Amino acid sequence: MIQLDDIHKTYGTGAASVEVLKGVSLRVKRGEMCAIMGASGSGKSTLLNILGLLDKPTSGRYRLDDLHVQDADADELADLRNHRIGFVFQAFHLMGRLSALDNVAHPLLYRGLNRSERRPLAQTELERVGLGDRMDHLPEELSGGQRQRVAIARALVSKPSLILADEPTGNLDTSSATEIMDLLTHMNDTLGLTVIVVTHDLAVAERCHRRILVRDGIIET
Ligand SMILES: Nc1ncnc2c1ncn2[C@@H]1O[C@H](COP(=O)(O)OP(=O)(O)O)[C@@H](O)[C@H]1O
Ligand SMILES: [Mg+2]
Repeated sequence: MIQLDDIHKTYGTGAASVEVLKGVSLRVKRGEMCAIMGASGSGKSTLLNILGLLDKPTSGRYRLDDLHVQDADADELADLRNHRIGFVFQAFHLMGRLSALDNVAHPLLYRGLNRSERRPLAQTELERVGLGDRMDHLPEELSGGQRQRVAIARALVSKPSLILADEPTGNLDTSSATEIMDLLTHMNDTLGLTVIVVTHDLAVAERCHRRILVRDGIIET
């Protein structure tokens, strides 16, 4: 479902330019759960952002399911991002003034659903991540692990086929990190979601089917 061929990414121009990805090729099958590992600054987030259509490669080819990403226009990319991809970040990125329920319901705004249509869908996802009793809480009233579960519910609410998580356990203690990995593993098993997790935690990586090492802008195999 994911096919990257000879992806290069350079930031900046001229003397100040830095080539972060130097020809990355990668295949990920539907339903796989992969860890992307590598030293800080090696290009893991850059790679994940390209996979998530948040950033464009400087050159190379990317096929996601039936779509040739390099040939898609901005509308097609936005549509794909909204429908097929769920993101989870290290720092949660929840909206502080919205309840857990409204945070989870928010992506559905872009589907044109009204509030009364959005809320039951969000409720289902919060229940799925075990937060049915915390729906009206603000993020600041939740623990780090609970916030990340809200973020996972938000990623799931638009029924994506691919979950991209950038150091999802990086701000969490060991037991919350285990819970988050339990949840991602469960979604992979039960919903058949493809899951790609950037991490430098070996315990996290060991729970994935496959480990991909980024070093010096290329993938080591
Ligand atoms: N928007 C950007 N502009 C310029 N340089 C960037 C940008 N994003 C990342 N970089 C640089 O690219 C390199 C890889 O960054 P990143 O992909 O975030 O690495 P990782 O996630 O593995 O720590 C770093 O040297 C970083 O400074
Ligand atoms: Mg990073």
